[in-house]
Amino acid sequence: MAPTRRIFSGIQPSGNLTLGNYLGAMRNWARLQAEQSYECIFCVVDQHAITVPQNPAELRNATREVAAGMIASGVDPDDCVLFNQSYVPEHAQLAWVFNCVARMGWLNRMTQFKEKAGKDRENATVGLFVYPNLMAADILAYKGTHVPVGDDQKQHLELARDIAQAFNSMFEKDIFPLPEPQIFGAATRVMSLRDGTRKMSKSEPSDMSRINMTDEAEVIAQKIRKAKTDPEPLPETTDGLAERPEARNLVGIYAALSDQTPEQVLAEFAGQGFGAFKPKLADLAVSVMGPIGTEMKRLSADTTYVDGILRSGGDRARDLARPVIEEVYDAVGFLRP
Ligand code: TRP
Repeated sequence: MAPTRRIFSGIQPSGNLTLGNYLGAMRNWARLQAEQSYECIFCVVDQHAITVPQNPAELRNATREVAAGMIASGVDPDDCVLFNQSYVPEHAQLAWVFNCVARMGWLNRMTQFKEKAGKDRENATVGLFVYPNLMAADILAYKGTHVPVGDDQKQHLELARDIAQAFNSMFEKDIFPLPEPQIFGAATRVMSLRDGTRKMSKSEPSDMSRINMTDEAEVIAQKIRKAKTDPEPLPETTDGLAERPEARNLVGIYAALSDQTPEQVLAEFAGQGFGAFKPKLADLAVSVMGPIGTEMKRLSADTTYVDGILRSGGDRARDLARPVIEEVYDAVGFLRP
């Protein structure tokens, strides 16, 4: 029998989900799930969030909002396991074991820690340092085999593979699969509307730099109209976008939203200026994101519904993770009196 193909992915609970989250994560998850060739487990990773300071009330809200955003994007909670991480204690249990498998040297190489800790490393939390061990535990508590992630998580996923392999060989058991990354294409790297060289980010001070998933149609259109561009018409080929980060970003967004390649978009718009292109892009963005934002706001307001989904997803997750933890505890030599 072929081994189970099991997808695990996680997203941090943060307010202001953007078009980048939609195109880079949520839409892909909904599509993978719809393919029906994988079992899908999707997690709002609130325990990862507290590696940096959080406001408790905002964290709770953001957890619901992200779950609502996923459902609004087409993730079907009847057809996957959707839950928040802290509800399932098995993640933290396995993470502790992995803290005792992973080596300081491995974690010292993580570039994201260096970026996030910045200059004041002494003051970073220990949690931020061991965050990749928790991420490995997220995946491996379910023996996840496939992990859709953005480029920035590739190194963490490699660490998860190293941990899985090290655990298996330390205890001479074949407990964990080596999870494989499923990196989505560059088209899903959505950049700031104000600076095409920077990632679209919820933490950017200017709200004009991003499209939030909950933006009203008029706001979406306005942000696109005001997006930074250059005076040149669109080129014939993508080579012509190489030195034009803002143009490349808008063409990329158009391509992603319309499920085309950038080449196909240029075939349609080559020779036209942004005066013609932007209204088309605005219409497209409004038609795709408008209904998702409306649904997301409706769901976020219905806390009873969202909490019910997360609770039943969490219960299913626990049923899946429990036997894996037992297997691990047995291998490690923990007495189960
Ligand atoms: N670290 C991921 C991020 O910041 C989120 C995450 C946590 C995750 N656990 C995971 C992603 C497990 C994939 C699998 O984007």
